[in-house]
Amino acid sequence: MYNIALIPGDGIGAEIIREGRKVIEAASYKFGIEIKWNEFPFGAEHYLKTGELLPDNALKEIEDMDAIYLGAVGDPRVKPGILEKEILLKARFYFDQYINLRPIKLYKGVPCPLKDKNPEDINFYVVRENTEDFYVGIGGRFKAKTHQDNLEVLRKLYKTKIKVGFNLEQEEEIAYQIGLISKSGTQRVMKYAFELAKKKGMNRVTSVDKANVLTNIYGLWRDVFKEISTQYPDIETEFTFVDAITMWFVRKPEWFKVVVTPNMFGDIITDLGAMIQGGLGIAAGGNINPEGISMFEPIHGSAPKYKDKSIANPTATILAGAMMLDCLGELKAAKAIEDAVEKVLSEGKVRSHDLGGDSSTIEVGDEVVKKLKEVNIK
Ligand code: IPM
Ligand code: MG
Repeated sequence: MYNIALIPGDGIGAEIIREGRKVIEAASYKFGIEIKWNEFPFGAEHYLKTGELLPDNALKEIEDMDAIYLGAVGDPRVKPGILEKEILLKARFYFDQYINLRPIKLYKGVPCPLKDKNPEDINFYVVRENTEDFYVGIGGRFKAKTHQDNLEVLRKLYKTKIKVGFNLEQEEEIAYQIGLISKSGTQRVMKYAFELAKKKGMNRVTSVDKANVLTNIYGLWRDVFKEISTQYPDIETEFTFVDAITMWFVRKPEWFKVVVTPNMFGDIITDLGAMIQGGLGIAAGGNINPEGISMFEPIHGSAPKYKDKSIANPTATILAGAMMLDCLGELKAAKAIEDAVEKVLSEGKVRSHDLGGDSSTIEVGDEVVKKLKEVNIK
């Protein structure tokens, strides 16, 4: 039996999670899996009522569970950053989910915004580092003159530099944020990326950085990539700068197999990735700790304006559910869900609004369940 923490969250979260859960339950029934859902109320509503975000006792409770299934967080009534940092990022950090795995796959029947690109052209994985880089939260924002401690740090940082655009002795407001990359933190991500390539029979790993400007952090990132790649002589490797990869995702997506990227760039390029696979309605992700508790979610946000309209596409959440089952070792159930989704998309009879149809959130979920009953997994 699997114990799953269920956090529907905000906006469309509850609606899409309901469909995801429905599909997982249907797959569980088909493959004889037992799931116990443990629902948590965390999100904007709960925060506004109680002031509580993601409390430590809940994290402790979840430590004994097998995985987390998350809808989405974010609400216009709460200042940006609070829910994101204190719920989503807190869970990622607390459970040390150092991999953010985001498959970029164009399914048959899904309109692609790239001219002349077909499902066989868009099928790769982005492995995003998930706990370091600019997400470590080290920084400050202050009036230069009135903040002596920070001022000292900045003086040191700038001591050898040419003229900067502000005067440290003035009242001027300044802000800084530090990106941090560690050797061991990078090694584990690189290993995961290469192992994934091996497992999927993909023979190329592309590393993303900006080592030509942010030479310290991404210089280290690059060195570790080189170091780990020597352990995989059969896998081709290459570096790309982050600006260039956005161009190549559009021009030649068929080139990519496994892309490994630092956190911040990964955030950006996976939204682009979602677009080339047909939109955020399809794109799923897993925040993975291969030795611990992982969390699965659609990569889109809570889309508050679509809340309770039953027009949100639950497909990304359903596919995130398949990723969760896959990670738990339930490969057949995972494959069956993906196959069912693929059938629904390619048939196109039931089609959500974002894909140009008029089916409701529930109709999409129901159709996936219907197809799931028919698929044959050996
Ligand atoms: C994502 C999101 C999050 C991130 C936000 C909501 C904190 O954009 O999962 O890609 O920046 O990682
Ligand atoms: Mg993002």
